[in-house]
Amino acid sequence: MRIDVIAKKDWTGRVLVGLMFEGDKTPLALPGEEGRGYAAVAADEKFAGQFRKTSLLRANSGNSKLILAGLGKRREFELDRVRSAVARALKRAEDIGVDSVGLLVPESSEVKGDLADFVGAAVEGAILSSYRFDKYRTPKPDDSKPVVELVLVSANPKGASAAIRKAVAEAVARSEAVCFARDLANEPPSPKPPEKMAEIAMALAKQGRIAVRVMHKAELEKLGMGGILRVGAGSHEPPCLVHFTYTPVTKSKKTVVVIGKGITFDSGGLSLKPATGMEAMKDDMSGAGAVLALFKWLGSVDVPAMVHGLAPFAENMPGGGAQKPGDVIRHYNGKTAEVISTDAEGRHLLADCLAYGSTLRPDLMIDMATLTGACVVALGDEYSALLGTDQRAIDRLISVGRKQGEFFWQLPLPERYKSHMKSKVADMKHTGKPGVAGTIVAGLFLKEFVDEGVPWVHIDIAGPSFTKEDWDYSPAGATGVPVRTIAALLKGL
Ligand code: BES
Ligand code: ZN
Ligand code: ZN
Repeated sequence: MRIDVIAKKDWTGRVLVGLMFEGDKTPLALPGEEGRGYAAVAADEKFAGQFRKTSLLRANSGNSKLILAGLGKRREFELDRVRSAVARALKRAEDIGVDSVGLLVPESSEVKGDLADFVGAAVEGAILSSYRFDKYRTPKPDDSKPVVELVLVSANPKGASAAIRKAVAEAVARSEAVCFARDLANEPPSPKPPEKMAEIAMALAKQGRIAVRVMHKAELEKLGMGGILRVGAGSHEPPCLVHFTYTPVTKSKKTVVVIGKGITFDSGGLSLKPATGMEAMKDDMSGAGAVLALFKWLGSVDVPAMVHGLAPFAENMPGGGAQKPGDVIRHYNGKTAEVISTDAEGRHLLADCLAYGSTLRPDLMIDMATLTGACVVALGDEYSALLGTDQRAIDRLISVGRKQGEFFWQLPLPERYKSHMKSKVADMKHTGKPGVAGTIVAGLFLKEFVDEGVPWVHIDIAGPSFTKEDWDYSPAGATGVPVRTIAALLKGL
């Protein structure tokens, strides 16, 4: 999507979008007689600025149109409403066959909070909602086409301020990273085996201050990464581990490690999943996809920390060499785990990486994974679970996420449930009791691989990584959660 910023006097387009709070007498950036006139016409159609509602009006001049989009009541305002409202407006434009729209930028006195944040959210709503994954589709004549250009129309005759332009550029970088994460997870499973993912990762090293190293099978064997190797052993596509490093412009003492589960297809292995719905398991690499997206983003921004990214890739298949229930896996830190279900594979990749990441002595280590079906049962498809040892980071993720429209909820990590993983043949079983606290026990398993003293947060994104239906600004398919939240967290360190 093209994004432009111009002064109102230079605007020559056909469709303008205005945002409006419920209860206001005029839309934002359309004060006085003119705005009151539009609001009155819209009111005839029962539009009064309600959240998620839109109204299509004929504009006073020429043959141009005005789309009003509701933000809801001022006292219920949350920044994320801007993304949703802009997405709705662009949908309305798409329905009438328009491919370029202008968006009226409000005055800072008209909005609560920072205007730059407001404009950034508007740009995000536009880019994220016009995302499509159509590389494998033959276009049909009656397909509607998403808006391809958003022009920010500023009342200021000199155009927008430097702060607004900066916010726009940042929103574009964030949104493009999210679209990249969506592309990776929407891609069918066979064209994205582990080694192909590593190639895509390597290409990111061309930008900015990023270095990438790929550890192939032979090196993983030397290092003793039994988790990644055994999970990948049932496929003829060899597993691998990608290690990214971002070095900040100004020297920083802080180090952050981000890790993501990268199962390019989860058949369940010998503990085969039911056939129904198995196609969704192409997105079981969303955590690793988020790591790649974050490093794409880090290629164009500065954050005040050294950032390591670990993306372990494997295909979980039931081939001849596959791990078997009853096997024992030895991980990078030497700890062994008895395999009960080969479908509980993700935790083994993460275990190796959490142990390896601990050796980098980070100030914060975050892992992201489509880890447990139990998480979807507990929190549904809009909330990710947070578990970990760094309460400040957990609180921060919840509050930063809310502004981003990405939702998180903390689950406990009670030591007493560790007894569920008792094993007679290994240091522990890799799962607990069937149907009992699956997300929590997975978290307790992971904790065994985090060194004492390393602040750590695990994010289970099994629910929000994918949406079956179109949602405000996430078309059906991969959502790119939690890329924006982690980006905002890193930026704010
Ligand atoms: N990738 C799945 C988890 C998943 C399920 C993600 C549904 C998104 C939607 C994971 O590898 C898995 O299969 N976990 C098992 C663990 C169980 C065997 C302990 C599960 O949740 O059923
Ligand atoms: Zn699985
Ligand atoms: Zn999985």
